[in-house]
Amino acid sequence: MKPLNLCNISVSVKMLFSGYLLIIAIGYGMAMVQVMFTHGMADGKLGLSTEDIVYSYYGNRSGSLMESKLEGSMKGNAPEQERFKIIQWLRDGADETAYRNDIKPIIEQRCTICHNANTGGLPDFTQFENVKKRAEANQGASFPALARVSHIHLFGIAFIFMFVGIIFSLTSGVRSWLKSTVIIMPYVFLLTDISSWWLTKLNPNFALLVIIGGGGMAMAFVFMLVVSLYEMWILPRKLPLADRRHSLFRD
Ligand code: HEC
Repeated sequence: MKPLNLCNISVSVKMLFSGYLLIIAIGYGMAMVQVMFTHGMADGKLGLSTEDIVYSYYGNRSGSLMESKLEGSMKGNAPEQERFKIIQWLRDGADETAYRNDIKPIIEQRCTICHNANTGGLPDFTQFENVKKRAEANQGASFPALARVSHIHLFGIAFIFMFVGIIFSLTSGVRSWLKSTVIIMPYVFLLTDISSWWLTKLNPNFALLVIIGGGGMAMAFVFMLVVSLYEMWILPRKLPLADRRHSLFRD
């Protein structure tokens, strides 16, 4: 009896495996699109860069959203002198008493025409809490959010690579050292990726490791996908007819 491999399993099992692999590949593509939307735009420019990763996990500790808006899209809404006054207040720690004395009148004169409870969608700056929230330094992802996303990724991705790995382990044309390496790679890169989210939250220099982790995982996946599909559908056509008849799950 020949050992079970992707060449000689029955067509129905090949269908099962291929369907699974293709759906996971599409899911992978969708995950990339989502990463582009959530992290890719973090620095305001399209495409994923280390700055995006730093911005998402570490934040921008030297500036607040309020300050970057006053230097950006809200620049035209207040004369320079008043903008500087608000920015000075932000940099001094955005204290509430100082707000009531000096800043509130400016905000009420220049900003609440648009930023009020009646204009749907825009934050209401007649309430101090709404100003305060945008006056704080951007701290990036919170620890509870990191813990939530981390455990979802660890559980979910480990599950995916269990099945992808089982299918790939049935290939016959890959040397066993290479096979073992490719099978363990996604787990190693998954751990790298997720631990570097936490490390980047503490220190922005780890951002590159996030991209390396994610990229390594994707490469291992593509390798397993391509080799598995090749051995199921293309390789059998190249074998002599006699060798094709050793199916364990004969249809
Ligand atoms: C003419 C209407 C208008 C005025 C006046 C205005 N804003 Fe805005 N503001 C907007 C719009 C529209 C947005 C959303 C688009 C954007 O973020 O650029 C926005 C967004 C913001 C945001 C980002 C809010 C968030 O949570 O994403 C901040 C901060 C902000 N404005 C501050 C100010 C300040 C401070 C002033 C007064 C100096 C001001 N705005 C005056 C229309 C206005």
